[in-house]
Amino acid sequence: MRLFLDTADFDEIKTGVDWGVVTGVTTNPTLIARAGQDHETQVKKICGIVGDVSAETVTEKKDDLVVEGRRIASWHKNVIVKVASTPDGLAAGKVLAGEGVRINVTLCFTVNQALLAAAIGAYIISPFVGRLDDIGEDGMRLVREIVDAYRQQSIKTKVLAASLRGPLHVTQAALAGADIGTMPFKVLEGMYKHPLTDSGIERFMADYRKTQEPQPVRR
Ligand code: E4P
Repeated sequence: MRLFLDTADFDEIKTGVDWGVVTGVTTNPTLIARAGQDHETQVKKICGIVGDVSAETVTEKKDDLVVEGRRIASWHKNVIVKVASTPDGLAAGKVLAGEGVRINVTLCFTVNQALLAAAIGAYIISPFVGRLDDIGEDGMRLVREIVDAYRQQSIKTKVLAASLRGPLHVTQAALAGADIGTMPFKVLEGMYKHPLTDSGIERFMADYRKTQEPQPVRR
């Protein structure tokens, strides 16, 4: 499973890329607003350091979405255009996909929405795990079911587990067979952490330091 960061914070992205584990980024209007720069500037900047960058459309009607999608796609070859899982979003996505633009269908909450995304030739489907959990449903079950349905139907659209809220979600998404998991930076950091790793390093370092101390001369 590829690991993406769900952020528009340049420093976080740079750190994840420097660590050698992050190969893509997902953004949305909320994350762009938090980063405090205009959409185009921010997305172009991110595209300069990482491979696949999802950038979201914000218009609602098919024709407007097509125009907006073309504009966003023209910013950089790494851009993947996000459209919402609505009739207009999907119709616009189909036109854009036909022109060779990679489409990420976002705000997916059912297997049927995932099947519709596949039908328009979407590159990515984004089921939102955490937001389903928030309303008392099992978000990870949706990821499992989409992976299963796509497998049975030989669908090539990639399953991107989105709205992941903690390291356990990441593990579960991988076990469910997701192609990509996108997460906030603090969740990525959480993937590294284990108390036995920390105490193991401490012990190894203490033992190593002992070997550097002058040894008593034996007669
Ligand atoms: C990614 O594409 C989504 O926009 C993101 O994962 C949503 O996460 P949230 O539900 O934590 O806002």
